[in-house]
Amino acid sequence: MAKAKKKTVFFCKECGYESPKWLGQCPMCHEWDSFTEAPPAAGYIPGNAGGAPGIITRNMPARLNEVKAGGEERTVTGIGELDRVLGGGIIAGSLVLAGGDPGIGKSTLLLQMCQKLSADGHKILYVSGEESQGQIKMRAERLGSFSNNLYILCETDLHAVSDAITDMKPAVVIIDSIQTMYSSEAGQTPGSAGQIRESTGILMRLAKSLKVSIFIVGHVTKEGIVAGPRMLEHMVDTVLYFEGDGVASYRFLRGVKNRFGPTNEIGVFEMQQDGLKEVLNPSGYMLQGKPENEPGSVVTCCIEGTRPILVEVQALVCQTNFNMPRRTSAGTDYNRVNLLMAVIEKRLGIRMGGYDAYINVAGGMKINEPALDLGIVAAILSSYRNQAFDSRTVCFGEVGLVGEVRAVNLPEQRVMEAAKLGFERCILPKTNIQKLGNGTNNLNGMQVMGVGSIYELLEVI
Ligand code: TYD
Ligand code: MG
Repeated sequence: MAKAKKKTVFFCKECGYESPKWLGQCPMCHEWDSFTEAPPAAGYIPGNAGGAPGIITRNMPARLNEVKAGGEERTVTGIGELDRVLGGGIIAGSLVLAGGDPGIGKSTLLLQMCQKLSADGHKILYVSGEESQGQIKMRAERLGSFSNNLYILCETDLHAVSDAITDMKPAVVIIDSIQTMYSSEAGQTPGSAGQIRESTGILMRLAKSLKVSIFIVGHVTKEGIVAGPRMLEHMVDTVLYFEGDGVASYRFLRGVKNRFGPTNEIGVFEMQQDGLKEVLNPSGYMLQGKPENEPGSVVTCCIEGTRPILVEVQALVCQTNFNMPRRTSAGTDYNRVNLLMAVIEKRLGIRMGGYDAYINVAGGMKINEPALDLGIVAAILSSYRNQAFDSRTVCFGEVGLVGEVRAVNLPEQRVMEAAKLGFERCILPKTNIQKLGNGTNNLNGMQVMGVGSIYELLEVI
């Protein structure tokens, strides 16, 4: 009988949707001209786009009631901020994607992780397709001494990498970066969507079958997604993004997906001469250099994962010289700022149309939490009226379209964080105070003031 012809499949470069035919528009994410051809990944299971690690062992159905929870062993990396984002350590056999802009510090962080893990006696393989052994050594010299358990492999051929992993059976493998890896099966240039998908599939099967944890470095393109794109996120167990202001030395490691732990946790680091250092008190760090008693500067509190962090919101409002007022926002959503300006104009009757407004979340952190709204409004009002906002006060709350101040989650943690950093007063949504409900306006030594709308905010400041 003639051997069945190996069929190719087409998949969407944006979302990973697969189809036996080429399509002009993806039925899943509605992107146009995003389909590309690829051979089916080995062990590919139809209808399970990259989700499962191929057929390696056959599992039998089991009663849920008889299944034991957890059971995954975690290896603690020893870098507290990284462990927090990973959900308490590395799970054996997990595939982790570490994304971020080039030069942000992905290689440095992972090499530091290797340094700790290898010192604890774990066998580690660091595969680099970007740097030579000499270059890696130079970086390592800045980071201090390394144990003999760390191996370096400079290779871009994924089959050679795969053989090395199978022979060596390390506990953890780093692939730096996925864009440089090349698998002859995919028959496309390295870095193309087809190659990245194929390479990630191979690594996924290796991780699951050999129980090695694999960290994949992925560079982010200008559009802000991991190059070779979103589909990578579906395939891996955990996605971490490294972000930060290129100029400032802070770096935030954000967990956006985690099959083994909480998401949205962030880890805070500072890039120094000898590598990344953990920042144990992010609030204190974020408020460094905050001006005292200057109009337009307001401290607010956001929640990142489970952790409250105080940040300074700055606003600069000045009369416009053009017909169209200029608005910019750094560190928060531009449309949200425009919306808040419109609410102020309509509800407080202040003519914002004649003013330029520049909003900045100091410290290079990106925050899209609605609890920031009240801080932004207070900063805009403070700059507009040229009156400093009390520097001992923290203010947070969501602002609705009719100017009402809405409740936010975890108010108590936010107030406690402010108290810890030496603030004395807190302005927060009235409804939150009613829930906290001790009837006084004093919470753990902090004076708390509830506001129900932005008029009331105007009254108290
Ligand atoms: P790198 O880890 O190479 O970034 P990525 O892998 O994400 O592309 O980080 C490189 C930058 O970090 C580079 O600009 C130099 C700087 N750096 C330090 O400031 N201190 C250090 O100890 C190291 C190793 C790098
Ligand atoms: Mg690098």
